[in-house]
Order: sequence, then structure tokens, then C-alpha cells
Amino acid sequence: MIAIILGTRPEIIKMTPVLRACEKKNIDYQLIHTGQHYSYEMDKVFFQELELPDPDYNLNVGSGTHGEQTAKILTGIEKILMDEKYCRNDVVLVEGDTNSVLAAALAAAKLHIKIGHVEAGLRSYYKEMPEEINRILTDHISDYLFAPTENAKNILLKEGIEKEKIFVTGNTIVDAVYQNILIANKKKPNIFKELGIENGNYFLVTLHRTENVDNFERLKSIIGGLNLICKKYQLLIIFPIHPRTKKMIEKFKIKLNENIKLIDPMSYLEFLQLETNAKLVLTDSGGVQEETCILNVPCVTLRDDTERPETIEVGSNILAECNQDIIINKTELMLNKDKKWKNPFGDGNAAKKIINILQ
Ligand code: UD1
Ligand code: UDP
Repeated sequence: MIAIILGTRPEIIKMTPVLRACEKKNIDYQLIHTGQHYSYEMDKVFFQELELPDPDYNLNVGSGTHGEQTAKILTGIEKILMDEKYCRNDVVLVEGDTNSVLAAALAAAKLHIKIGHVEAGLRSYYKEMPEEINRILTDHISDYLFAPTENAKNILLKEGIEKEKIFVTGNTIVDAVYQNILIANKKKPNIFKELGIENGNYFLVTLHRTENVDNFERLKSIIGGLNLICKKYQLLIIFPIHPRTKKMIEKFKIKLNENIKLIDPMSYLEFLQLETNAKLVLTDSGGVQEETCILNVPCVTLRDDTERPETIEVGSNILAECNQDIIINKTELMLNKDKKWKNPFGDGNAAKKIINILQ
């Protein structure tokens, strides 16, 4: 049996191809939702749109401090694994670097159940980032490490992880994009009209990293950079805003240019449609750095570092730290660059490879 764990928006999106691969091969799995994300636009909308089955379990842990959230998920998953009599031959499959991932992996490790880590081997080398702790610890207790690239594999080898445990599969985000982009492009053609934008004539922004949005100076400088972009290019910035970021902009009373259009977080198909037709994307999201690279859309990453260096190497992405002058300069640089690069994250068959290996 495979226990597929998910808890947040990116895990739902990146685990969907894995679920589909299980269904195609008639492999038994249970879907365990931790409930780390719970708002309709961060959770249910993806289940509906991607036609996912209801989870077998939902822990409904909700938000909280890191310790509280991790502990609730750990005890909740441990109970399910024990009640369902998971054993050494079973696998708990986690994806990425959230608190849900670390907690589920810990629960499995203590019960001697095998752990598969999808998207293993990513490192920002910035230990204050909660995700960096989650992914390092998860990698080191996993039995199957599904590295998206050779670079990620080499990182794991350097940390002393046995090579027999590491498999380079590509990233399931490529599967997700390929499986959904055609449907996205056919659906809701009026989204551009609704937002008052034309293809290729707007910027798209996402922002949610705790180190960016919970810090007044950084958030102010990032928004300052976006305000400068509005003035310089006289174009709309579409900003589907993460609930964490919305809360912080309101709390800090930061002023946004009137051409920055704040909207609720979007469904996956809508977001893909906006992403693929954007002039340029500014983001601090991991998944969005990957997707823009796959979709041939230039990306400016609003961070000092990235655990996706492949995107910088191929030229789809650039780091702009969180300084408004650097943000505007790097945006100009990316707009003037050739948009042709090769996607380094695989051929869209990552989920199939993962399931074949587990089988
Ligand atoms: C989490 C992950 C992050 C991932 C992101 C994807 C960790 C440590 N962080 O960050 O790695 O990139 O998800 O989006 O696991 N909130 C809502 N509704 C929701 C979920 C959250 O309103 O459905 C609000 C709450 O005020 C909450 C805040 O957002 O306190 C942060 O949520 P949380 O899950 O703790 O972290 P994210 O920033 O979403
Ligand atoms: N996404 C979405 N709607 C939005 C913003 C993002 O569907 O309004 C998708 C995006 O396409 C990507 C994923 O959410 O696949 C990224 O999630 P997020 O940025 O929350 O987390 P991260 O990837 O940084 O962990």
C-alpha cells in the first residue's frame, strides 16, 4: 500500500500526476490530507478542478506555529498508519518541503515504514528557511529519494546518502503542466477580459515566503519594486494574493500602485493560463520558478537564493533579492533576453517513473 500525503497547494498540484499514475496501474493507495491548507482557494478548488478523489483521511490541522502544526500532523499520521496496519513493505510518499512533509516522514520512520521523497535533494543553503530544515531532515530519513535533476542527486551524494536510494526522475511539476496546459488554454478564455488584460501585456506576481512577507522592510521593498515596474511599463500587475501575504500587507499598511490588481488565489487552470501568457513573472514561489521555466516565460525571483539553480543556469530565471532597485533592473534585463531555453526538469513522465520504481 502507498500512503500519499499532501497538505498544501503545491503538494496537491505536484502529487496529482502520482495519483493518476497509481490509478492507471491499479495500484492501491490511500490519500491522506493533513489540512495544512484549508481555505477553498488553497485546497478544495484543486480537488474539484483536477477531479481528485476525496482524501481517505483529512487531519484538518489548520494553521499554527511550526512546532504545533508539525506535532499535530505527526500524531495524526502515526495513528492512521497504526490503525491501517501499515508495515515495512508499505510506503509513505511525501512531496516537497512543507511541515506536512517532515511530520509525515517522521511518523513513518518511527514505525519503520518506508518513505519515498518526491523532489529530494533541493537545497537553498539558508537554514533560517523552514523548508530547508524540512527537506534536509526528510531526505536523510527517506528510503527512496526521487531527485528531479542530476544536480539534486549530486547534492544528496555529497551529503553521504547511498546512491542506491537515489533515483533521478524529473519533477512531477512537468507532468502537471503538460497534463493541464492544453485544457487551461481552452478553458475560460474570458479571464483576460474579466481582468482587463491582453495576452502578453501584463506582469504576474506571487509572494508568500515567510522570510519575505513577515518582514516589514523586505515586504515594503518588494512592493516598492512592483510599484516602480507599474510606473515604468504602464502595465497591470496581476497579483493573486496568498492569505499570509494579504494579512501582512494589511497589517503593515503598505501602499500599492493602483495598477497592481490584487485578486484571490486562482485555480490551477486559471493560474496556468495567466502564467503562460504573462510578459514576465515575479515570484518567490518554488513551483512558479519551475513552471515559468517549463512554459518559456521569463521569471524574476524575489529572493536572495534558490534551491532551483537549474532555472538560473538555463537562463529562465534571475535572483533579484528584495531590493526595489535590483528588482526593476533585473526585470529589464530579463525582458530583453532571448526566451529560448531547455526545461531541465524532465519529460513529463516523472510520476510514472516514481511508481514503476516503487513497484
Ligand atoms: C506553506 C509551506 C510552504 C509552501 C506554502 C505553499 C511550511 C513551513 N510552509 O506556507 O513551504 O511554499 O505552504 O503555499 O510548511 N492560511 C489561510 N488559509 C489556508 C492556509 C493558510 O488563510 O488555507 C493563512 C493562515 O493565516 C496561516 C498562513 O496563511 O497562518 C500561513 O499558512 P502556513 O500553511 O503556515 O504557511 P504557508 O505560508 O502557506
Ligand atoms: N498556483 C495556483 N494559483 C495561484 C498561485 C499559484 O494554482 O493563485 C500554483 C502554481 O501554478 C504552482 C503552485 O501553485 O503550481 C505553487 O504553489 P506555492 O507558490 O503556493 O508554493 P511553493 O511552490 O512555493 O511551495
